Amino acid sequence: MNNRYAVILAAGKGTRMKSKLYKVLHPVCGKPMVQHVIDQVSKLHIEEIVTIIGHGAEKVKAQLGSSSLYALQEEQLGTAHAVMQAEAHLASKKGTTLVVCGDTPLIKAETMEALLKQHETQGAKASVLTATVEDPTGYGRIIRNAEGFVEKIVEHKDATDEEKKVKEINTGTYCFDNEALFSALKKVSNDNAQGEYYLPDVIEILKSQGEIVTAYQTEDFEETLGVNDRVALSQAEKIMRSRINEYHMRNGVTLVDPEHTYIETDVEIGQDTVIYPGTTIGMGSKIGAEAVIGPNSEIKNCTIGDRTVIRQSVAHDSEIGTDVTIGPFAHIRPQSQIADEVKIGNFVEVKKSIFGKGSKASHLSYIGDAEVGSNVNLGCGSITVNYDGKNKHLTKIGDGVFVGCNSNLVAPVTIGEGAYIAAGSTITEDVPAQSLSIARARQVNKEDYVKKLNINK
Ligand code: UD1
Ligand code: MG
Repeated sequence: MNNRYAVILAAGKGTRMKSKLYKVLHPVCGKPMVQHVIDQVSKLHIEEIVTIIGHGAEKVKAQLGSSSLYALQEEQLGTAHAVMQAEAHLASKKGTTLVVCGDTPLIKAETMEALLKQHETQGAKASVLTATVEDPTGYGRIIRNAEGFVEKIVEHKDATDEEKKVKEINTGTYCFDNEALFSALKKVSNDNAQGEYYLPDVIEILKSQGEIVTAYQTEDFEETLGVNDRVALSQAEKIMRSRINEYHMRNGVTLVDPEHTYIETDVEIGQDTVIYPGTTIGMGSKIGAEAVIGPNSEIKNCTIGDRTVIRQSVAHDSEIGTDVTIGPFAHIRPQSQIADEVKIGNFVEVKKSIFGKGSKASHLSYIGDAEVGSNVNLGCGSITVNYDGKNKHLTKIGDGVFVGCNSNLVAPVTIGEGAYIAAGSTITEDVPAQSLSIARARQVNKEDYVKKLNINK
């Protein structure tokens, strides 16, 4: 097998996106488009990947890290000019160079592999991945000769009316004999409608030199969708989403309504988990088996154990154990650790807190910056008063504590193991273990007082 190299084009601004965010960094199912491309290319046997960066260079580099080498294209003079920038890295190398656009997030490794295989077995100098589409507007058209061989690629803006009728398009993925590529690039001109150096012109240049040029047509146009604007972005999102959903369903996860279930990339879900509609599960989340999530829930970057039930709730950046029940209408904020068999009920907000095994906050509570032991019962309306207007303070609640309804625990404060807090208390001092603490005014009943005031007369 030939040595293989790859060039990812990611220097463009993406004017048609009308966005502050550089085009290739727009996420599709949570992951930036260019990262999708790199992840797929990385599955092939590639010696070196060179990403061409320009607009937002630092941000693209920060995203891709060491998975790629970089070449800077200072001025965006077109896709051929972009590939030229990889010259220092690749021009002296012998082998095949795959070129992929950073704005085709749906491209699959298998398809690129098939393109590479065909290219290598036919001894071609250039091969282009094509697709036949209903609406080819905006794409470069594949122009074939009478024998059916590819002659050239014509950009939409340069195409004649006749050429515009061609429905076979350039997907923007190619492979080239490396030396032929860099010598042909020198011959590309910018004499065209956009005044740009077009990479697709390399095809015509090599063909006119009598070299073998092939096209590999994929059946799956969806995979080659180029995202230039927000309409295409939403199409890419939809296609990626249905791929992801299908993957989980084939893995044994029930999605009650996959059309309305939004699972981002790189999420793990165990068998027999059921996801109800309106649920969003963000990148990097891990959900165990036999769990129930949704409806209308938002899970972001959480680990969730087996058999846990989360209904109509939001949970971010937290670890949630097995056999936990959350919601309806609960909010688990970042850095929370919820142990097994915990119950977080309706209208409970938990922030940066630890809940020990079997503890409960069943109704209407705010628990922030707290370490709650195991088997603690936080009654309805329990509040940790964690903020003094300047700083946040810790509340520590020992194992087996019972906090009566409507209690304020003014932090910093520690409630010892097994203590009881009387309902309606405002606790400002530590409570020793096993004691009852009552911190509220005593009730006074003034008999016949109302009669004296004649209020009801
Ligand atoms: C390009 C192809 C077109 C093909 C389509 C497939 C050219 C001239 N046209 O058009 O035939 O049908 O892709 O999606 O190649 N880029 C740079 N530097 C530049 C210009 C572009 O790095 O100077 C990058 C962009 O960031 C982008 C990619 O190259 O990731 C493609 O550029 P784009 O402007 O999207 O080209 P299209 O008009 O889509
Ligand atoms: Mg494009």
